[in-house]
Amino acid sequence: MKIEENPFVVTGYIKPEYFCDRKAESERLINLLLNGNNVVLKSDRRMGKTGLIQYCFDNPKLSEHYYTFFIDILHTTCLQELVHELGRAVFEQTMPRGKKVAQRFLKALRSLNDKFGFDAFSGTPTFSVGLGDIEQPEYTLNEIFDYLQQADRPCIVAIDEFQQIGHYPEKNIEALLRGHIQKLANCHFIFAGSERHMLELMFEKRSRPFYKSADNMDLDAIPRDVYVDFICKNFFEKGRKIDAEVAENVYDLFEGHTYYVQKTLNEAFFSTANDEECVMETVNYSLKTVLDSNESLYKEYLSKLTLRQKTLLYAIAYEGWAMQITSAAFIKRHKLASASSVQAAIKKLLEEELVVEENKRYRISDRFFGLWIKRTMLA
Ligand SMILES: Nc1ncnc2c1ncn2[C@@H]1O[C@H](COP(=O)(O)OP(=O)(O)OP(=O)(O)O)[C@@H](O)[C@H]1O
Ligand SMILES: [Mg+2]
Repeated sequence: MKIEENPFVVTGYIKPEYFCDRKAESERLINLLLNGNNVVLKSDRRMGKTGLIQYCFDNPKLSEHYYTFFIDILHTTCLQELVHELGRAVFEQTMPRGKKVAQRFLKALRSLNDKFGFDAFSGTPTFSVGLGDIEQPEYTLNEIFDYLQQADRPCIVAIDEFQQIGHYPEKNIEALLRGHIQKLANCHFIFAGSERHMLELMFEKRSRPFYKSADNMDLDAIPRDVYVDFICKNFFEKGRKIDAEVAENVYDLFEGHTYYVQKTLNEAFFSTANDEECVMETVNYSLKTVLDSNESLYKEYLSKLTLRQKTLLYAIAYEGWAMQITSAAFIKRHKLASASSVQAAIKKLLEEELVVEENKRYRISDRFFGLWIKRTMLA
């Protein structure tokens, strides 16, 4: 029996044929870079920033003329870690160009001399630098950027979850990075992230080093008709069927939020045999599977909240998008205690990233969690 590849990819690299739309966004991002700009790319979590960057890096307009580098700094907590991540990324993404090139890079990192390993078996150098080996991160950073500046092609460096540098304990990081980036004629940057507010402060506030140093791009949901066509086409091409109306239902359930649509359809595709049709029942069954598999996680989230925080969380889940949450009407409708207790509770829910805010409207950040609350706690 031939096992068809699942066209609804949810982890890792997405082949271009399984990548939905983003035509206008990728064209704009590529053009901005080709014209020598830096770009700030913002969106809600799980909307598709990383996917879009990878997709653009694969485009021959970039891949044939630039060296592209990608680092994710979500887990980093200080400059040392950032430098380590950047060094490793440049090394790993340079390796495929040959041993000599990689060796040249390592040689350029004079501050780390003698700290690199060597794979005796394959005869290749390895970037086996421990975090502690980076004793003078500012020097090493300088050396990495010097190397990129002298590369025989222009470079594009994408730093994913860039807002993280705002949490570093060092005070001068923004000014330090901005200083480097300003000098690098051969290197352009994509700063991506989901903490809109932090990124906006960083790039739009006059007093901040990165003020107006990059063009802005906001990534929204993929348009409904385009996504629905993509869904139907992918079922059809794999010998299965789905009605446009069913695809629309999935889209609407998550307001087109990419990850949630993809994950639901990934499961639904898996549950639809060849020559069969994916109907609403299949979708519901798939959703149940996804929610069930996360149940212990959701319960853990809840266990960390007080009763008042939980009540507010449920109220927000119930409304989908909750507005005027401190108004008398909202408080009465959801049997909340008082405006001040709602204020205290929302602060905690936002801090824990259980809830996101957009123009004074609130929703549960993880849309599956929101759905689970509605189906199990509010049923
Ligand atoms: N254009 C697309 N077509 C199909 N699937 C996509 C597309 N864009 C993103 N995805 C899928 O949606 C999910 C979220 O994408 P991605 O990781 O790129 O989002 P993100 O905005 O970088 O998220 P985070 O904020 O968590 O870093 C992934 O599962 C990815 O496979
Ligand atoms: Mg990402």
